[in-house]
Amino acid sequence: EKGGWDSFMDKEIHEDPAAVSNTLLGRYDESGDLDLDEVHIDEDVFRQIDKIIVVACGTASYAGLVAKYAIEHWVRIPVEVELAHEFRYRDPILTPRTLVVAISQSGETMDTLMALRHAREQGSRVLAICNTQGSTIPRESDAVLYTHAGPEVAVASTKAFLAQIVAAYLLGLYLAQVKGTMYRDEIHQTIDNLKDMPAKIQKVLDRQADVINQTAQRMSKARSFLFLGRHVGYPVALEGALKLKEIAYIFTEGFAAGELKHGPIALVEPGEPVVVIVPSARGRNVLHDKVISAIEEVKARGAFTIVVAEEGDPDADRYADVVFWRPPCPTLLSPLVDVVPLQLFALDMARLKGLDVDKPRNLAKSVTVE
Ligand code: M6R
Repeated sequence: EKGGWDSFMDKEIHEDPAAVSNTLLGRYDESGDLDLDEVHIDEDVFRQIDKIIVVACGTASYAGLVAKYAIEHWVRIPVEVELAHEFRYRDPILTPRTLVVAISQSGETMDTLMALRHAREQGSRVLAICNTQGSTIPRESDAVLYTHAGPEVAVASTKAFLAQIVAAYLLGLYLAQVKGTMYRDEIHQTIDNLKDMPAKIQKVLDRQADVINQTAQRMSKARSFLFLGRHVGYPVALEGALKLKEIAYIFTEGFAAGELKHGPIALVEPGEPVVVIVPSARGRNVLHDKVISAIEEVKARGAFTIVVAEEGDPDADRYADVVFWRPPCPTLLSPLVDVVPLQLFALDMARLKGLDVDKPRNLAKSVTVE
């Protein structure tokens, strides 16, 4: 079943490229226009949507957070991302023009199901982004956009995360197309860029495995890790932190790099490992310089810095103790490559501790209780 891999998680990480390409497949026509007829929601209805609320838990919520940056930029409507269990028990503002997007790999997460039921009772439309055909969440939603990551068995979600980002991006691009908030060329270019991602992810898998493994060996005694990122790198930091705590039982915290000076920097003492997602340096990116200065800040306090950076970034080489390199790509697509070394790193750390990476203690693959 594991097809030669020693764990499902390892196998599923290596299916990251296919999860992206299969989720793209058949969602655009020959001219490059988005074709989402399968969701069976009228174009006019989509045109009227003035707010999106993503409801999800865990990794799926981080995919939603990534999508927020892209969809707000492309469609110019507010995108809120809510943990499903928090959403349900307050009094969220929902109207018929709100599109609620429920993201779930399993389609059986009770918290997410309760949130979508609540949204529908309030008269909003719910679109599910789901990996499991015929599961409860898509059945109870108004529409569904399936992720085609293939079955995910390991408790830690990996390939589904990438597929969720792609599906949410397709939805965003489709909304931009029907609302006319992007030029057609720009949409086509973004689709082309998405099509290039599987090969880039494959490159990370092929070329970074050794350095990641060596770093895990070096860090095998570490008791805690901090993860930081900015912009779309922020949810990637949250996801990297979740993976490591979930399967390697190491205390981790992910936070926005800009928050460092508002508290978390007090945690940094000599030897503390800090993982940083560095945005591209191309095009005089201000985000890049801000993140680099965050690295300098923690380094000045003795942190051991592990950095995910774009190939050729001279500053990453200068300031990091270790660099996991990833190929160049547009900023909004970078989570699809940046998360991959963090998945492998968590896997290696858990293996070195002799843990069952597929079935971490106290956790279930789908959380069917509230
Ligand atoms: O099946 P779902 O996507 O609804 O599951 C949501 C979370 O329970 C899930 O992502 C969880 O956080 C994973 N174990 C993370 O690796």
